[in-house]
Amino acid sequence: MRIAITTGGGDAPGLNAVIRAAVLTAIDRGWHVLGIKKGYAGLLGDDEVIPLTRDQVRGIGHLGGTILRTTNRGNPFSYPVRQADGSFIKRDRSDELIENARNLGINAVISIGGDGSLAIAHRLAQKGLRVVGVPKTIDNDVSGTISTFGFDTAVNTAMEAIDKLHTTAESHDRVIVMEVMGRHSGFIALHSGVAGAAHAILIPEIPYDLAKVCDAIMAREKRGRFFDVVVVAEGAYPSGGEESVIGESMPGQARRVGGVAESLARQIQEKTGKECRSLVLGHLQRGGMPTGYDRLLATRFGGAAVQAVEDGKWGHMVALQSPDIVTLPIEEALLHTKRVDLGHDLMKTARRLGISFGD
Ligand code: F6P
Repeated sequence: MRIAITTGGGDAPGLNAVIRAAVLTAIDRGWHVLGIKKGYAGLLGDDEVIPLTRDQVRGIGHLGGTILRTTNRGNPFSYPVRQADGSFIKRDRSDELIENARNLGINAVISIGGDGSLAIAHRLAQKGLRVVGVPKTIDNDVSGTISTFGFDTAVNTAMEAIDKLHTTAESHDRVIVMEVMGRHSGFIALHSGVAGAAHAILIPEIPYDLAKVCDAIMAREKRGRFFDVVVVAEGAYPSGGEESVIGESMPGQARRVGGVAESLARQIQEKTGKECRSLVLGHLQRGGMPTGYDRLLATRFGGAAVQAVEDGKWGHMVALQSPDIVTLPIEEALLHTKRVDLGHDLMKTARRLGISFGD
């Protein structure tokens, strides 16, 4: 048996732990493992395919990033191809990819990625490639799994940033608006905001009313609390408005969400007369060593993916449905983006603590 592993989309802490677990589990079965570099680029002649041995995965479980590297611009069904004049056209290179995998004697592929990579895995499975998916994203927005590895690490990074902002905001009587990642889901904002005791948390699931956010800030002032930490998810937007988008994306890349913190800080300053600052936590949330929780989840996913290959679960992905790791059709997970359940206990708890959601 010869399997290949690929990592696609944005990196997330825990990717290397999945790779390590999958490689060791496969070797334990006497299988050979290859690593496709940079998404599927390695199978399309734009990067390489390497053997993954015990040596290759030694000492990587605690490292952030991915030893295979990754891209969110490498959809083989719509692959950006550079023209002589520097412009890009998109080509469907999926047949070429499947042919190259066959030529390398690859019997199955483990594709580790978020919704974009899982959608690609699903389409490749439909075309006959034997693929098993492993859900990955710091955003925690993949349906069918209680959580994805990378999320816990990102929440901890954001929480620590909120802790640090508290002291400077309090010293200066300022409002600090911190933007976190998550695209159209507010999990990172909600979890880090509650854990870090933010005063307002704005998430895409609840379009915010600026007046309500300012009321909450002024109500605190009346109680003698002159500073505030507002956590805003990058995809949050005002009621009746739209999410902020940053500049141009690269060819083949989805549009980039973000920039809301700066405009929000400006508006809060105008409306309340309080001094405001903003910061975008950005890719710090994707870096660093995975937490213990993420390493364990990633390790379980890696082992379960090899089991899914052995069981011939083509077109399925592994998922956490506590206490078990299960498999389900990727198609099911892609039906909708997982978003914060507004009736969840964490939402209710946060509201009881007096955290404003701008509604
Ligand atoms: O999906 C993961 C994620 O980090 C999102 O939270 C964020 O919007 C996006 O990727 C950023 O992508 P890039 O690395 O292309 O800036």
